[in-house]
Amino acid sequence: MSTTPVKVAVTGAAGQIGYSLLFRIASGALFGPDTPVELRLLEITPALKTLEGVVMEIDDCAFPTLAKVEIGDDPNTVFDGVNHALLVGARPRGPGMERGDLLEANGGIFAPQGKALNEVAADDVHVTITGNPANTNALIAMSNAPDIPRERFSALTRLDHNRAISQLAAKLGVPVTEITNMTIWGNHSATQYPDLFNAKVSGKSAAETVNDQEWLENTFIPTVAKRGAAIIEARGASSAASAASATIDHARDWALGTPEGDWVSMSVCSDGSYGVPEGLISSFPVTVKDGRWEIVQGLEVNDFSRARIDASVKELEEEREAVRGLGLIG
Ligand code: NAD
Ligand code: LMR
Repeated sequence: MSTTPVKVAVTGAAGQIGYSLLFRIASGALFGPDTPVELRLLEITPALKTLEGVVMEIDDCAFPTLAKVEIGDDPNTVFDGVNHALLVGARPRGPGMERGDLLEANGGIFAPQGKALNEVAADDVHVTITGNPANTNALIAMSNAPDIPRERFSALTRLDHNRAISQLAAKLGVPVTEITNMTIWGNHSATQYPDLFNAKVSGKSAAETVNDQEWLENTFIPTVAKRGAAIIEARGASSAASAASATIDHARDWALGTPEGDWVSMSVCSDGSYGVPEGLISSFPVTVKDGRWEIVQGLEVNDFSRARIDASVKELEEEREAVRGLGLIG
């Protein structure tokens, strides 16, 4: 086992997602069995007692990969020297709300946290935003951390990516392992676009294999895009274990790399690829090598896909204007 622990910050650590996420990280699911981790857990002051209880449970697991746990309510202390920051802490939406409705309530969390990361995080910090509205919260954190390279900020669209794989596999009656090259484009919202034209099933075009435009348009896309709302409706609370699992998938692939021949969906700072305005945090197909992501280039974007990507990107531009109006970005 290596001797230097990787320092992983998790915010909202006493919340629903935290309750799944922390145990997976501590057990080695993020960096494997040979890499010790140190957990740095941030909560608001009233939730610290609950968090102490969660830490008691983590201690009781005696995880061999867990080197240390520190908790606190001051981001400048908790983020000190962290290599990975998983920003989960934010209010979840309730029934009937869209994720964008949380902008005003949650946007304010990410400006001070971006500033704190800028001040005290390790030089190699990688920041993943799960708290909603994830893309625009990532934009806020990135804009408030001018010394951290922009490519080190990302938002979670891996849950949507995993949902799309699962729905497609169920439709075709194949194992999820047969589905590759899935892409979620745009925003983690109801406008997101899960793309079957570039996805593959057993190496063949998914759209051609499905051969059912009606299903693709009127069942597949809305089921994936509105899955979060369906879970809130069914559970009375927003997705938690699946969100934690996707956060692990995202951070692990960012740290350790994506499989040869495949890619994953990550919301990252646009360089203008596929007509997405530069600087927006939008979901793209990406490959990762040595901790650096690259947007997959040269994919076909047909008229159907173009219209949907444009609609989701327009929503991201509107969210950017809204947080600019709130004074959260310059
Ligand atoms: P939750 O309410 O159970 O937990 C949120 C926690 O964040 C609470 O313990 C709260 O005290 C804490 N918190 C609030 N402000 C904080 C701050 N400034 N610093 C640190 N901690 C703070 O919510 P949850 O179900 O764990 O969901 C968390 C967020 O993740 C929500 O915004 C939810 O919508 C979002 N989410 C995103 C995805 C995705 O795919 N991107 C999936 C599921 C949930
Ligand atoms: C999800 O996709 O499950 C989360 O973003 C929670 C939500 O509000 O939908």
